[in-house]
Amino acid sequence: MADQFDVVVIGGGPGGYNAAIRAGQLGLKSACIDKRGQFGGTCLNVGCIPSKALLYTSELYEEAREKLPKLGIKTSAELDLAGMMAHKTKVVGELTKGVEFLLKKNRSEAIVGEARIASPGKVEVKLKDGSPRTLETKHIVIATGSDVAPLLGVSINEERIVSSTGALSLKDVPKRLLVVGAGYIGLELGSVWRRLGSEVTVVEFLDRITPGLDGEIAKQFQRILSRQGMRFQLSTKVTGVQKKGDSMSVTLEPAAGGAQSTIETDIVLVAIGRIPYTECLGLAEVGVQLDSKRRVITDAHFRTNVEGIRAIGDCREGAMLAHKAEDEAVACIENIAGRAGHVNYDAIPAVVYTHPEVASVGKTEEELKAAGVEYKIGKFPFTANARAKTIAATEGFAKVLADAKNDRVLGVHIMGAEAGNLIQEAAFAIEMRAASEDIARTSHAHPTLTEAVRQAAMGVEGWTMQM
Ligand code: FAD
Ligand code: NAI
Repeated sequence: MADQFDVVVIGGGPGGYNAAIRAGQLGLKSACIDKRGQFGGTCLNVGCIPSKALLYTSELYEEAREKLPKLGIKTSAELDLAGMMAHKTKVVGELTKGVEFLLKKNRSEAIVGEARIASPGKVEVKLKDGSPRTLETKHIVIATGSDVAPLLGVSINEERIVSSTGALSLKDVPKRLLVVGAGYIGLELGSVWRRLGSEVTVVEFLDRITPGLDGEIAKQFQRILSRQGMRFQLSTKVTGVQKKGDSMSVTLEPAAGGAQSTIETDIVLVAIGRIPYTECLGLAEVGVQLDSKRRVITDAHFRTNVEGIRAIGDCREGAMLAHKAEDEAVACIENIAGRAGHVNYDAIPAVVYTHPEVASVGKTEEELKAAGVEYKIGKFPFTANARAKTIAATEGFAKVLADAKNDRVLGVHIMGAEAGNLIQEAAFAIEMRAASEDIARTSHAHPTLTEAVRQAAMGVEGWTMQM
C-alpha cells in the first residue's frame, strides 16, 4: 500500500521546504521531495547563498586593496580563489544540511528523488537508486522553482559560456568576462569577477539597467558601477557566440536592428532571466493549466484548476525571489489547514547585493505615474549621513514615496551601504499601512545608516533636518 500524507511538496527550495516545515508545525503529515540530492533548492545550492558568499569575500578583497589604504591601514592582500570557493562551499553545505535538520525536526519526510504527479492525490517518485515509490496525499504543492532562460543561438556549456551556476564556480579569474543581461545576476556576479580582476562588459537589450527598479536609482547605479570599472553596452542584443582561437567572439546587434559588430571575450555569462521549471511533472496529463510563460496558473489561494493541487514560488507568477516563495509557502499551507494565510505583494522587498546595494519595496515613481496616483517625494543622500561618512560609504540616497492625499508610504527605494538591511523598515511600514510621518517621527539611533531613511521620510513634508 502507498504511503499516506496530508501534504506532499514537490521541490525542496525556499518555497518547498518552508511549506513542509509549516505543515509540520500545523500538525499535517508531510513529505518534501527534491531531485537535486541536497535540499535548499536553487537559492541555497546555486543562487542566493553561494552568490552572497562570493559577493562578501570579493568585496573584502577589493576593500583590502582599494579602501583600507585610504583609511590608514596598510595591507598586502593576495587572492586565494580556491580558498574563497571553499568558504562558499562550506556555507552552502552547512545551510543545506540545516534544511534537512529542520524538515526532520518538523516531522516532514525528506525524500531525494524525481517526482511526477500521477493523478490528483497521487505522486510517483523515482528514488535516487532508481526504485519507484508511490505517495498518496490529500494535497499536492508544486514548488519546482525555475531554471536559466536560454539565449537563442547561444548554448550554455558551463565552461566558456556559463549561466549563473557556472559563474559561481569558475576555476580562474577570467581576463575578460562578457555578461548578457544587466539584471540581478549580471550585476551581482559581474561585480564579483570585476572585483577579482576581470574586465567586465555588460550587454543589455534595453536602454537601462535593472528594469523594474526605480528609474532614477537605476541611472545613478549605472554611473557608480561604471566608475567601478564595469562597462555597459545598452540597447544591444547578443546574436551569437563563436569560439575563435583561445577567445570567444560575441556577435552584437543594436536592439532596434542595424549593423552587427563583434567583441572578444574569455567567458560569456548568460543572465537574461529565469523561466519556471514545470517540466517532467506530468502537469499536462493531469490537466494543470500553465500560462504562456510556462507558469502554473493559480488563484489567490495558490490553487490550480485541478482540485487538491497548488503551486508556490518561482513556478507561479510574481517576483522570482526566495522570500516571496517562503511567504507563499506559509500562506499556502495555512490555507490548506483552514487558516487565513495571505501574502501582501506590495510589501515584498527586492535587493541587488552589489556595492552599493540597491533595495526597493512598493511602487516606483514610474508605476505611480502610470497609475495616475498623486504622490510626494522625500530624498536624502548618504553624503549627509554621519555614519556613512564614518565608514567611508557615502554613495547613494534614500527615497520615500508617499500618497499625496493621506501620506501612506507607497514605495521606498534605497541605494547605499546596507540598503538590503535598511529596506526592512520600509517593508514593515508598508505592511502596517504606515504614513511617511510615522517613519519620520520614529526615533532612529544615532549614528546609523537608518537615519538616512528617516531623513528621507521627513523630506516628504519638507522638514529634512540634516541637509
Ligand atoms: P527553487 O529554489 O528553484 O527550488 C525548486 C526545487 O525543486 C529544486 O531544488 C529542484 O531540484 C526541485 N525540483 C524541480 N522539479 C522536481 C521534480 N519533478 N521532482 C523533485 N524535485 C524537483 N532570491 C532572493 O530572494 N535573494 C537572492 O539573493 C537571490 N539570489 C539569487 C542568485 C542566483 C544566482 C539565482 C539563480 C537566484 C537567486 N535568487 C535570489 C532567486 C531564488 O533562488 C529563487 O527565487 C528561489 O530559489 C525560488 O524558490 P523555489 O522554492 O520556488 O524554487
Ligand atoms: P533579470 O530579469 O533580473 O535580468 C535580466 C536582464 O536581461 C534584463 O535587464 C533584461 O532586459 C535583459 N535581457 C533579456 N534578454 C536579453 C537579451 N537577449 N540580450 C541582452 N539582455 C537581455 O534576470 P537575471 O539577472 O537572470 O536573474 C533571474 C532572476 O533571479 C531575477 O529576476 C531575480 O528574480 C532572481 N535573482 C535575485 C537576486 C536577488 O534577489 N539579489 C540575485 C540573482 C537573481
